[in-house]
Amino acid sequence: MARRKLVYEGKAKILYEGPEPGTLVQYFKDDATAFNAEKKATIEGKGVLNNRLSEFFMTGLNNIGVPTHFLKRLNMREQLIRSVEIVPLEVIVRNFAAGSMAKRLGLEEGTQLPRPIIEFSYKDDKLGDPLVPEEYIIAFGWATQQDLDDIVALALRVNDYLSGVMYGVGIKLIDFKIEVGRIWENDYMRLIVADEISPDSCRLWDLETGQKLDKDVFRRDLGSLTDAYTEVARRLGVLPKGGAAPMGKPTLIN
Ligand code: TMP
Ligand code: ASP
Repeated sequence: MARRKLVYEGKAKILYEGPEPGTLVQYFKDDATAFNAEKKATIEGKGVLNNRLSEFFMTGLNNIGVPTHFLKRLNMREQLIRSVEIVPLEVIVRNFAAGSMAKRLGLEEGTQLPRPIIEFSYKDDKLGDPLVPEEYIIAFGWATQQDLDDIVALALRVNDYLSGVMYGVGIKLIDFKIEVGRIWENDYMRLIVADEISPDSCRLWDLETGQKLDKDVFRRDLGSLTDAYTEVARRLGVLPKGGAAPMGKPTLIN
């Protein structure tokens, strides 16, 4: 018998109906995919780590006045979030060239960009989330020019926050992706940070060694993804300082 109503199942998360109107329960799976799900694996403990890390980043953002969908963590794999209407865009912020940008422009990975660069992909798995110019976004009505201005401002604030937090624990924020959702309060529509912020959606390099501590470890077969995410969590104080969790089964503190 179903415990509650499933609202949406994605590649790494499931959304269930929440306890109150306007809320959802976001469940983090252990599934990892890359290259539009061409590569797949189940990585024990990833969902637990991402639930806790996304809570950490979203709480920090809420506390400095950057609105997010996060309400509270419910348990090891689930968090209560505000229900939003997702803007069908992946909002990517880059500080250093890497991944698809490095490839497209023939830049060496790690090259510092003249300023943070924001780009948008249209969220459609069938099309492989194609990069789209603002002109398309406005013409097809996915967002207005005003929305885009607000999204850019939001993304830059997230970038400043995340870059600073990461720098403080010896990690360079190379790039990241956020998703943005709409909520309505009385007659006003607001855009808030939604989905997740975790090493699945960022590129994180150790400041000293350049070691990758993000999903590229899985995309490029560079070692244990759980170890990499556990290291990020440990540095941020999400895991006990003394001992990182045993591989695959992280122990979390409340
Ligand atoms: P890219 O270099 O592959 O375009 O990725 C840029 C950033 O966006 C990187 O931090 C990974 C993240 N990202 C996602 O979170 N989901 C995706 O589907 C893709 C393609 C990238
Ligand atoms: N392309 C995404 C990534 O590499 C995952 C996927 O689409 O399967 O982060």
